[in-house]
Amino acid sequence: MILYKKHILIAIVSIFIASFFTLSLSAAEEVEVHHWWTSGGEAAALQVLKKDLENKGITWKDSGVAGGGGAQAMTALKARISAGTPPTAVQMLGFDINDWAELGYLADLNNIAKEDNWDSVIPKALQRFSKYNGVWVAAPVNVHSVNWVWGNREILSKVGVKKSDLKTWDNFIKAAKKVQAAGYIAFAHGGQDWQDATVFDSIIYATGGRDFYIKTMIEQDTNAIKSATMRRAFDRFREFGNLLDDNFSGREWSQTTALVINGEAAFQIMGDWAKGEFVKAGKKPNSDFVCFRVPGTQEAVLFNSDQFAMIEVGDNRRDAQEAMAKAVMDPSFQSTFNVVKGSVPARVDVPNTAFDFCGKKGMLQLATANNNNTMLGSMAHGHAGKPAIKNAYFDVVTTFLNDASMSSREASSNLANAIFAAQE
Ligand code: BGC
Repeated sequence: MILYKKHILIAIVSIFIASFFTLSLSAAEEVEVHHWWTSGGEAAALQVLKKDLENKGITWKDSGVAGGGGAQAMTALKARISAGTPPTAVQMLGFDINDWAELGYLADLNNIAKEDNWDSVIPKALQRFSKYNGVWVAAPVNVHSVNWVWGNREILSKVGVKKSDLKTWDNFIKAAKKVQAAGYIAFAHGGQDWQDATVFDSIIYATGGRDFYIKTMIEQDTNAIKSATMRRAFDRFREFGNLLDDNFSGREWSQTTALVINGEAAFQIMGDWAKGEFVKAGKKPNSDFVCFRVPGTQEAVLFNSDQFAMIEVGDNRRDAQEAMAKAVMDPSFQSTFNVVKGSVPARVDVPNTAFDFCGKKGMLQLATANNNNTMLGSMAHGHAGKPAIKNAYFDVVTTFLNDASMSSREASSNLANAIFAAQE
């Protein structure tokens, strides 16, 4: 009888120990990732990350919130944090990372950053956002840039647009008019504030050059924002607006890219996440589509970088979180992931071998722009100004595009006032 009781006791204790380990292991081996990568190309890239982590024994809990540019995902994050149920890692852009770090919600990754030498392999322009007061709080997974044009090769050759027609903004507009006259959509565009602003970033650079972009977007100098050069930029934005189709309003960016992929539209001005859609559709650079810098911005890389900001979580979730941060920074992962995402690696030591024509071009341009100080943060994607400034910019740029009666003078003065009001 005593022996029998002893066996029962041993069995209960072992069940208890086993379930304790299973519980703590499963908690330690899961990451919940909050992101807005829900288009076809984005989801394919995310799959690369998910697989990589699964191979390392880390389970993926998905928390995707649709909406290009990430505004909806950021709103959803606030709700999660205030409910006290934070995800493990969050896709975040530029100044948003600084804000969350300032509020004290982000984890300290200094140990692994030191172990893996992040200081010397991650470009300084990204470190400015990955670190807060000297503490690494985020791991950058890519470098995207917004000043790209994606073109349908067949339409361009049918209509007779040559590469030499795509060197200056004015010639670009002439080419777009030719496309429209031939019955195609000239510019595929999705009328959402962040997409409007993505285009306007490039127009500002194309119109005023590097110093003007720095003065207006990075330094937010209100006199420069009110200047004749900004008025000219709005004039150009109006020209662009006149070359859109009737259904542009509210269209998702990936549906917009599909118009170029399917041969309905000649061009889309969009960040290189658009390339992820071409790749997903099995299209090849130079034979099916062309990629070139927005005419007038050839020397510049107006960048944004998706980083995984790591949220301060309990000890039981920290191992998996650190394993994810390490995995994201692995050079061969950065190559595989960015080939699918359309972006380029967030490390300086990743070979370009696996990248296609546009990817190789993007990597070379990034290195050159970095040396020439023409690698500048995109305002539309949170890398030039704080969120309040970015939102002020969105408001004015979108209102102008949708209100044909607004003059460029009014728009530039509204922009100067809105940015001034948003400054701290
Ligand atoms: C992100 C990209 C994303 C795009 C569209 C950008 O802000 O950096 O990763 O693909 O938004 O959703």
